[in-house]
Amino acid sequence: TKDLPLKGKSVIITAGGTKERIDPVRFITNDSSGKMGYSLAKAARNLGAQVTLISTTNQLPIPFGVAFVPVQSAAEMEKAVFAKFNDSDIVIMAAAVSDYRPKTEAAYKIKKTNEDLTLILEKTTDILARLGKEKKHQFLIGFAAETNDVETYAKDKLARKNANMIVANDVSQANAGFNKDTNEVIIYQPQLDPIHISVRSKDAVAEEILHAAINTLNL
Ligand code: PMT
Repeated sequence: TKDLPLKGKSVIITAGGTKERIDPVRFITNDSSGKMGYSLAKAARNLGAQVTLISTTNQLPIPFGVAFVPVQSAAEMEKAVFAKFNDSDIVIMAAAVSDYRPKTEAAYKIKKTNEDLTLILEKTTDILARLGKEKKHQFLIGFAAETNDVETYAKDKLARKNANMIVANDVSQANAGFNKDTNEVIIYQPQLDPIHISVRSKDAVAEEILHAAINTLNL
């Protein structure tokens, strides 16, 4: 229906920064709070979708009526996303997924010595790129967190990751990006003009993102 355009649709949303373990008491992460992903989960639910929220954070209230899957690392997030992917219609990668992880996770706490410590990092799977390779009917929405040349990098990600939409946030802006309550984004889609969403609450930005997808999908 017009009121609930996502009724009957299954939407996967990832949120938060992944945690890549160094040892039992240390990890590598980033500044993502999960707020953007949680706002998207609420907005998709309000539009009638069945939502699965795959999240690294336990600092935010779990939105009512949403299936919640807690994860920590990029590898766990990848597993959780692909467990649901076949049955999904829209996937939104709002999480800040670590591009690298420690090559080995120490079984015991690493002890201080007088020497420098070298941490060897290996690449994680690019979840969005793998989704882009394996997608059938699914509509894939990625984000691009950039500090410079936002348009160039966003368009590059759209093509290289075979996404249907890239939401670019300029994270060098004071009112946008990591851990803020507001965001300002530009939505890029193949063959369509970019849509600029001026600064507003992440809840309101989330609604605009979903409306853009609903428009493109003719729902
Ligand atoms: O969580 P908040 O505090 O509310 O902040 C929101 C946000 C700034 C984290 C969010 O709006 C955002 O931009 N998320 C994506 C951050 C990011 O990792 O961007 P990227 O340019 O490194 O990655 C591009 C896309 O590929 C993203 O959709 C990312 O989820 C995905 N990716 C990246 C690496 C990887 N190994 N796998 C991926 O799927």
